[in-house]
Amino acid sequence: MTPLLDQCIVVDLPKISDPRGNLTFIESHRHVPFDIARVYYLYDVPGGAERGGHAHKQLRQLIVAMSGSFDVILDDGLNRRRVHLNRSYQGLLIRPMIWRELDNFSSGSVCMVLASELYDENDYYRDYSEYLSARGDK
Ligand code: TYD
Repeated sequence: MTPLLDQCIVVDLPKISDPRGNLTFIESHRHVPFDIARVYYLYDVPGGAERGGHAHKQLRQLIVAMSGSFDVILDDGLNRRRVHLNRSYQGLLIRPMIWRELDNFSSGSVCMVLASELYDENDYYRDYSEYLSARGDK
C-alpha cells in the first residue's frame, strides 16, 4: 500500500515580518496544490473537545492554526501520526483518503481550513471501518 501518510506534510507559508505585525498569504497552486474552493474555521472550541473523525474521498485541504494550537492525528489505515500545529505561517497539507482527528485545542485557538472542494457530504467517510474497507480496495 502506498504510504499516503508521507504525502501529508507541513508547509511553510510566506511570512512578511514587519514591526507593525506579520503578514502571511496563501495562493492557489502556489502555496497549496489546488484551487481553493472553500474556507472554513473552527473556533470557540471548548477544552477537551475533539473534532474531525472522518476522511475525504477527493477533497484536499490545508489546515492552519491561525491562533493558538491544536493537534491533528493523521491515519492512513496502516500508520498514525500526530502533528502539532501552532504557527500562523505553517499549514498541514492533507491529501484524500486520510482519516483525521483534531484534539488538544488551546484556549482561544482558531483552526482554519482551505479546501479544494465545496462542501459535499458524499465526499466523507465518517465511519472508520467503512474508511478502512475503502482503503483496502485501493
Ligand atoms: P463536521 O464535519 O462534523 O466538522 P468537523 O470538521 O469538526 O468534523 O461538520 C459539522 C457540521 O457542519 C456538519 O453538519 C456539516 C456542516 N458543515 C457544512 O455545512 N459546511 C462545511 O463546509 C463544513 C466543514 C461543515
